[in-house]
Amino acid sequence: MISIKNNTISLHGRDISYIMTVGEHGDLLHFHFGKRLADREYSVPAKWSAWSPYAPEGHTLDNMPQEYPSYGYADLRPGAFSYTKGSMNGIAQLKFRGAEIKKGAASVPGMPCLHDGGAGAETVCITLADEEAGIEAVLAYTVFEEYNIIARSTVIRNISDSAVYLKSVYSSCLELAQKDREIIYFPGSWARERQLERCALKKGMRVNIANERGGSGHNMNPFAMIADKNSDESRGEVYSMSLIYSGNHSTNVMCAPNGSVRILQGINPDGFGWELEPGGEFASPQSVMCFSDNGFGGISRELGRLYRNKLCTSRWTHRERPILINNWEATYFDFDEEKLVTIAKKAKEAGIELFVMDDGWFGARNDDTKGLGDWTVNRQKLPSGLKGLAERINAEGMKFGLWIEPEMVNPDSELYREHPDWVIHVPYKTPAQSRQQLILDITRSEVRDYIIKSIKTVLSEGNIEYVKWDMNRPITDMPYPGYNHRYTLGLYEIAGALTSAFPDILFEGCAGGGGRFDPGMLYYFPQIWTSDNSDAAARLMIQYATSMGYPASAMGAHVTASPNHQNGRMTPLKTRADVAFAGAFGYELDITKMDGDEFEEIVKQTAFAKEIRKLVVEGDLYRLQSPFEGNHCTWEIVSPEKDEVFVMSCKIMTDTLCSEPFIRLEGIDESAVYTDTLSGKTYYGDELSRRGFMPEYDMKDFATVILHLKKN
Ligand code: GLA
Repeated sequence: MISIKNNTISLHGRDISYIMTVGEHGDLLHFHFGKRLADREYSVPAKWSAWSPYAPEGHTLDNMPQEYPSYGYADLRPGAFSYTKGSMNGIAQLKFRGAEIKKGAASVPGMPCLHDGGAGAETVCITLADEEAGIEAVLAYTVFEEYNIIARSTVIRNISDSAVYLKSVYSSCLELAQKDREIIYFPGSWARERQLERCALKKGMRVNIANERGGSGHNMNPFAMIADKNSDESRGEVYSMSLIYSGNHSTNVMCAPNGSVRILQGINPDGFGWELEPGGEFASPQSVMCFSDNGFGGISRELGRLYRNKLCTSRWTHRERPILINNWEATYFDFDEEKLVTIAKKAKEAGIELFVMDDGWFGARNDDTKGLGDWTVNRQKLPSGLKGLAERINAEGMKFGLWIEPEMVNPDSELYREHPDWVIHVPYKTPAQSRQQLILDITRSEVRDYIIKSIKTVLSEGNIEYVKWDMNRPITDMPYPGYNHRYTLGLYEIAGALTSAFPDILFEGCAGGGGRFDPGMLYYFPQIWTSDNSDAAARLMIQYATSMGYPASAMGAHVTASPNHQNGRMTPLKTRADVAFAGAFGYELDITKMDGDEFEEIVKQTAFAKEIRKLVVEGDLYRLQSPFEGNHCTWEIVSPEKDEVFVMSCKIMTDTLCSEPFIRLEGIDESAVYTDTLSGKTYYGDELSRRGFMPEYDMKDFATVILHLKKN
């Protein structure tokens, strides 16, 4: 899988090769990332053009694709790292010093990363150094036999005898030769996360896909794709880069005047800084690069499988997820024990399996102005305590789970009154509040210890089988450069301590909805609340775009009330469930008010969700019609054996004319005959895939059609 032959280092995955060569002056050059090549020494040169005018003389690197470029000496394009030495700029030119192949996946100290689960991975660690400048870089590349990905991380070491100050350390660098390409990225905002954007990369352009709001952010996901112009879901060469990181990130794309592209991915250099004493080192997070010559769908299915098998560590990753009901949109803060038990009881009758008590159960938390940080149960609301409530919910035949927001504190709380200095702040300014809350300074060990101890106490109090871990504001007042990275390391320490102390609890991440939906959090939490916007029509776009970089099973998706609480839209109950089925399915509405036909419909929905949830956890997702491009949104999940298929198709606005009547299924067994368990109709695989099926939508806005096909 990895070989070193004279000056060539080659990594081969399932259908890909990643190849580097050591140039005649000792530079580590990029040669190829793409379709698999035979393992040998290669005949064409790594460099892109024979000469580079107006560049450093002699041995210039300005026209060379590199693995970890330095700025300012032989290359004047932005570099993968930068530093200062006292009042001087760090000018370095890293040279190859050696490479070592190891069995297994690389580990990244203090941070989540891919794991090999015992087999199928190899790593090469390549040491580069400039002894004059006193800097060494160790580049780790992991390749998996069964995947088309390369995972990269970097360690920078100070090998001089005085301190250096790192200003930027990217995790990976990918250089692509001249071609017409486009970038696909996922910006958004609260309640509108991960909207799909696509634009052409033109010569000379600089595009920074970045976030500096503290968490990985609603406003930009740490995932982007660079694709051949006109690529689509099944055609075109596509590269993706995902950062396994939950803090400020940057995917920095620079298009050279000759049309070649350099992409750097890692911690956002804005606000970053790190002092390295002599001998000190800094480790970057891991960046996952994927290649597909089958369009965006090839990337998504690869990442979906990769994350399920090699990233998520939860015992729940491959398990069918319980159908939950969350009381947030049913009660907000206005609840007591009886009300919760009544909801749980009715939910049980509907076939729901897990009751989740959201915000408002602790301290003086009767609204969002008080109580955060005080993790003791509010006995006025819940006289039986967590233990007693869990018992009552369990007695109804339901699992019990709860909401926490461990990183936060309200100024109006016991915790803040006791430790006002524990919040993130600069000494000369009152810290900014957001949602009336401040952030605990989890770079401090005593604060982490408090959080771990108090949440462990909560989770040991009763039979708690699920936790929703929220984080409801951006990070402001960061006191010094590099603070955000230390915060992120603190977060990982807390998440690691709690998830490993309670390995059977199903953890769901959340950050004001999907504000920290990233591969770093997925390492600990197998599912994440996708968005506070639970309107089915808005969710079509959010879930469609999220599925490009993440598995369906990672997306928390709930049926909520109509009119929707976030945008007032009215949608049929059927649509709300049909859209949510392709995720970690649940309800978030006052089920005690639902009777008659509506209740019966929910009973049917939960029964159906149970039938398809194994498929949602293990299947491959295909996007067939994009809500970003037309009036239809269709997705499909196919089991690995191709014997089971779920299709959801929505006609967004009703219309007498169907502009796209036929939908061709993908990834199915064309020689098979399938029966739809919902309608009893039989379909031939070749017809479904070559001609397509024609959904018969109801005559109303947001009408959906679903199919659940099983091989005869
Ligand atoms: C955030 C979450 C919601 C809910 C509230 C509770 O907004 O995204 O789902 O838990 O907090 O305060």
